[in-house]
Amino acid sequence: MSLSSAARATPALRAQAYKALTSTRAFSATSISSEKTLKDTFADIFPKQAEEIKQFKKEHGKTVIDQLLLEQAYGGMRGIKGIVWEGSVLDPEEGIRFRGRTIPEIKKELPTIGGSSEPVPEALFWLLLTGEVPTESQVKAFSADLASRSEVPEHVLKLLDSLPKDLHPMAQLSIAVNALETESKFAKAYARGVNKKEYWSYTFEDSLDLLGKLPVIASKIYRNIFKDGKICQVDPNADYGKNLAHLLGYTNKDFVDLMRLYLTIHSDHEGGNVSAHTTHLVGSALSSPYLSFAAGMNGLAGPLHGRANQEVLEWLFTFREEVKGDYSKETVEKYLWDTLNGGRVIPGYGHAVLRKTDPRYTAQREFALKHFPDYELFKLVSTIYDVAPKVLTKHGKTKNPWPNVDSHSGVLLQYYGLTEASFYTVLFGVSRAFGVLPQLIIDRAVGAPIERPKSFSTEKFKELVKSIESKK
Ligand SMILES: CC(C)(COP(=O)(O)OP(=O)(O)OC[C@H]1O[C@@H](n2cnc3c(N)ncnc32)[C@H](O)[C@@H]1OP(=O)(O)O)[C@@H](O)C(=O)NCCC(=O)NCCS
Repeated sequence: MSLSSAARATPALRAQAYKALTSTRAFSATSISSEKTLKDTFADIFPKQAEEIKQFKKEHGKTVIDQLLLEQAYGGMRGIKGIVWEGSVLDPEEGIRFRGRTIPEIKKELPTIGGSSEPVPEALFWLLLTGEVPTESQVKAFSADLASRSEVPEHVLKLLDSLPKDLHPMAQLSIAVNALETESKFAKAYARGVNKKEYWSYTFEDSLDLLGKLPVIASKIYRNIFKDGKICQVDPNADYGKNLAHLLGYTNKDFVDLMRLYLTIHSDHEGGNVSAHTTHLVGSALSSPYLSFAAGMNGLAGPLHGRANQEVLEWLFTFREEVKGDYSKETVEKYLWDTLNGGRVIPGYGHAVLRKTDPRYTAQREFALKHFPDYELFKLVSTIYDVAPKVLTKHGKTKNPWPNVDSHSGVLLQYYGLTEASFYTVLFGVSRAFGVLPQLIIDRAVGAPIERPKSFSTEKFKELVKSIESKK
């Protein structure tokens, strides 16, 4: 069935999804019917959290929490503590913690669904938004809710069909998400003059609608550019990762598990990275979740950020082409030096905050060791992992010679046949929605103000520095 007809059939799917949800409730009445939905859970929790934040600001608002060096203003604001981000905090040595939990802890503590042996992004979204671990039945119901919101309007599908195939998939994603603005319940409510206390509720609805639609949009982009343009229907009974895999055209059970893991670990990496900060910043002007997220995606598309996963693969392929099967440490080391001496970065290595191997890299390495330890490209990535940190340390520029998340993800996708590297950042983008949208909802719930840091010209900074130094 073509996507257009799938989209037309979606109201029926929607009904089916709700039916599935109801029947799950009937099946396990004690565990589900008495359990709260995500929206109810958040609505119960957030007034207390908002009050705590209010009190905290009132009591400690004037406490000095940082000192600012001139070099930080010129250095990409690195290290300045200026953003509130509830879902996760990144420790330079240990890596990410989602609401206080490391990736190994997430894998142990979050319920899985759909026969998954990996964590699922639906459960992580719940945790990031509420700070609570959902039950398995809550995650199932939430998953069905997302599937029920998957209908993509005809005008967005037509728009995607009209785009040239050589327009980068991330530009296509951004265009499609911007065009979904027609669906924004927040924008309509704002135009009606709704009370600001209700902003979060419309932001919540838009966020879930957007999450529900992203697998269809991502798959449509993939299949338009690389396949026949057709995608299957969203299965109302399948979880998010499975639906995404199937829509892309991949049914392998391990690939489905990979999608669940991938979507979970790429979601959130605290608030200062380009895609998270941009979504938060644009959202602070009360732009809808669609416009805010699309802006974040434009940032994720940069080669120093999300597009690094594409760069890694292209860089590996060039190497493979050059050395014709010689993956010895010596040839890898030479290639690394050639890259550095050519004035390029080693893609997938380094990080603005991390100072150790990224635990998201480790999680993916463990997946590869479990499923395909002898895969040629995995072995190459492992050899690079042996050699690159030493080379980068000797090179002496980067503050972090260790691999980040993007160094590994592409190789996993390659193994299962998803070989089109220019699409990889779109998958990262779908995952990132699970991290940035909870914060957007929280921002609206606590009434976060529009962001407006102060900027100075160099002339003005010189005056400032002169006046400070003259007082010493
Ligand atoms: C991620 C990244 C953008 C962080 O940048 P950063 O915070 O400015 O990093 P550093 O402070 O360590 O940079 C200091 C210097 O080391 C260089 N450097 C950092 N990572 C490097 C790498 N992987 N290869 C070569 N040089 C690197 C920087 O370009 C910078 O050089 P400069 O002084 O000539 O401008 C950077 O490490 C990078 O470009 N990595 C490769 C791209 C990538 O993998 N991105 C995905 C990140 S999740």
